[in-house]
Formats: sequence, C-alpha cells, structure tokens
Amino acid sequence: MNYYHPLLLTPGPTPVPDEILQATQLPMVGHRSSDFEQIAEEAFRVIRPVFGTTNDVIILTSSGTSALESSMLNIANPEDDIVIIVSGAFGNRFKQIAETYYENVHIFEVNWGEAVNVPDFIDFLKSIKRPVTAVFTQYCETSTTVLHPINELGNALKAYNPSIYYVVDGVSCIGAVDANMERDQIDVLISGSQKAIMLPPGLAFVAYNDRAKTRFKEVTTPRFYLDFNKYLTSMADHSTPFTPNVSLFRGVNAYAQLVKREGLDQVIQRHYVIRDALRQALLALDFELLVESTYASPTVTAFIPSTKDELNFIKNELKQRFAITIAGGQGHLKGQILRIGHMGQISPFDILQVVSALEILLSEYRNQNYIGTAITKYMEVVKAYV
Ligand SMILES: Cc1ncc(COP(=O)(O)O)c(C=O)c1O
Repeated sequence: MNYYHPLLLTPGPTPVPDEILQATQLPMVGHRSSDFEQIAEEAFRVIRPVFGTTNDVIILTSSGTSALESSMLNIANPEDDIVIIVSGAFGNRFKQIAETYYENVHIFEVNWGEAVNVPDFIDFLKSIKRPVTAVFTQYCETSTTVLHPINELGNALKAYNPSIYYVVDGVSCIGAVDANMERDQIDVLISGSQKAIMLPPGLAFVAYNDRAKTRFKEVTTPRFYLDFNKYLTSMADHSTPFTPNVSLFRGVNAYAQLVKREGLDQVIQRHYVIRDALRQALLALDFELLVESTYASPTVTAFIPSTKDELNFIKNELKQRFAITIAGGQGHLKGQILRIGHMGQISPFDILQVVSALEILLSEYRNQNYIGTAITKYMEVVKAYV
C-alpha cells in the first residue's frame, strides 16, 4: 500500500504549512532596503504574543543553540556564578556551553523523565554560599518530554532572590504553551524556528524584559556575532546587524497570520487536547509513559516499548510502511523510549494516523488484537473538544 503524504512527527523540525512555505519562496529583497525593513519591523513585533512579551523579540539567523549560548554570554560576566538545571540532553547542552565559558558553574541534576522539584531546587540555591547571577532551565526538556513548572519555579526563584536572572529555553514549546514572561517572572525566553513555530530550521528567538535589556549593556563577557546589543541597536531601525535569513523572516510574518486566524488560545488548546488523547491511546496499547501527566509536554510525548526489538520494529515499520517519522531517545534514553512530536500545524486527525498504524503494528508484533482499541480512547478525548 502506498502512503502519499509522509508525516513528520519528530519534535522538530515539524511540517511547514503551505502559507509559510509560500511566503519563504517570494523573490529576494535586499536586506538593507526599505522592503526588508517592513518585513523585519513586522516580524519583531508580531511574534511578541507567542512569547508573552510586550518587547520586540530579537531574531537571530542561527539555530536554537545559538540562543542558548548567547543568552548566557549576554547575561553572565566571566567570573559570575551561574546555575544550570539539567534534566535531559538540552540541560546538558546548557551545561556544556557554561563549562566552555565559565568557571563557577553549579549543576542541579533532575532525574531524566521528572520535572524539577522547586523546593529542592531552592534548597540547592541556598546551599551555594556565593551570589548567583542567573539560573538556566528548559521549559520543555525535549529529550524527556517533560514540561517544567516554569511559573512555580520563577515565583520561588524571585521570592528567594529577585536579582537572579531567570533564563528559560522554550525551544520546543513556545507557540504551544501559554507563555507569559511577566507572570512567570522570566527575564530571557528563547526559542527556535523549527518546532511549534513551524518554520524551517534556521532562526532563533530571544525575548527579554527591560531588566535583562539593561543587563546586556553591562555584561563584559566577550562576544561579537551574538552580542544582543548589536541586535537591539539594529532593531530600532527595523534591521539586523548581519545579513538575516530574509525568507524566514517572511515566514515569521506568515506564521503570525496563521496564529491570528486560529487564535493563540485555540492553538494552545489543540496541543493539549492532542497530548491528552495520545496519552490515553498509548496506554490502551499497553505502553508505559515516561512522564507523569502533570508534567507531560503538550508538544512531544515519550513512551516505553516493552523491548528494544519492539522499539526498533515500531520505529522502522512506521517509517517504511506508513511513511511516518517519529523520534527515538537521546543520551541514556536512546534505545529505551520513542517520542512522538505533535507540535505546529498538527491536527488531532494527523495523530490519529500514527495511533492507527501503531494498532496494526502491535497487533502483528505481539500477536494480540489491538485494532480499534487505541483510536477509541483517542477519539473519546478529542470528541469533547471538536
Ligand atoms: C529544548 C531544546 N533546546 C535547544 C535545542 C537546540 O536547538 P537547535 O538544534 O536548533 O540548535 C533543541 C533542539 O531540539 C531543543 O529541543
């Protein structure tokens, strides 16, 4: 049987909607022209609500990791003490960046698959007998599919010490969660283009509050290409300091139109409904879920096949027979879990395809009839919302 429309269900890159693709294919304009100024002015502005900020958002022509790195270099001085919450592969990336540039790095380890325990974290902060400049964490730790309690953490952190900068990596959830920098007391919130923002890879975003903006000017850590001050200066002229990815800037504006058409609240709700429905479907297929429901991300879901052979069978057969691509685990979860991404322009019925394909594959592999079991559970959740 042939499947004509491959389904990309990795936690980024995600399928790019036609409207965005078309926008990115328009003829090129000069990046030092009034044509681009119009595009850029719009892009910096229209992306604000997705980050829950009233400031224009810095847009870098580079992948998400550049925003992880630059958010550190623009917030912390070389001799500062900084704290990294490591709960998976992307926490590790923050750690690697920190250890490349800084001497005084404190790591708070969280078991992979769990969310940060806020009181324990505050106790950890108290145990550091030197002033801490900044705390870095993921919002969604993509490798484990945990959504951390960003609001609870922000409030506790600022209650403990309001001068500590709170830097949050929202690469794999901004565009699918109710982000609000002021309410959650976030100073810097970063993201990338290729996930829930559903653009091709190649842009990174940095949202910041006024306090962080002032701090960027004061920090002495050497940086050149990723010096936020350069971006802020250019932004005032609706421009960028270096040649931007003009096509993707147009894509940002097309994305914002799509969000406006659907309504940001509806976009967010759709992600949560799919999460809840998919979790029920996976349980009906006798899978264990890696993450408890309170901390399950609305953008990506991890489940545990019963054996490595079963895991490989599912991943390979989904791809070869059904043209569906899902992701495996990272770090020590490689070979242990599978992850289904469900962010961007993904409808409940897109995910129904992977659920029904899993029914067929598991019925074969386990020699047990699952046909209709998971899709029933799935649709029971979805029907309450359509
Ligand atoms: C949470 C998180 N942070 C950072 C990154 C790194 O982004 P990039 O691969 O675009 O550099 C990713 C990519 O998957 C991610 O999921």
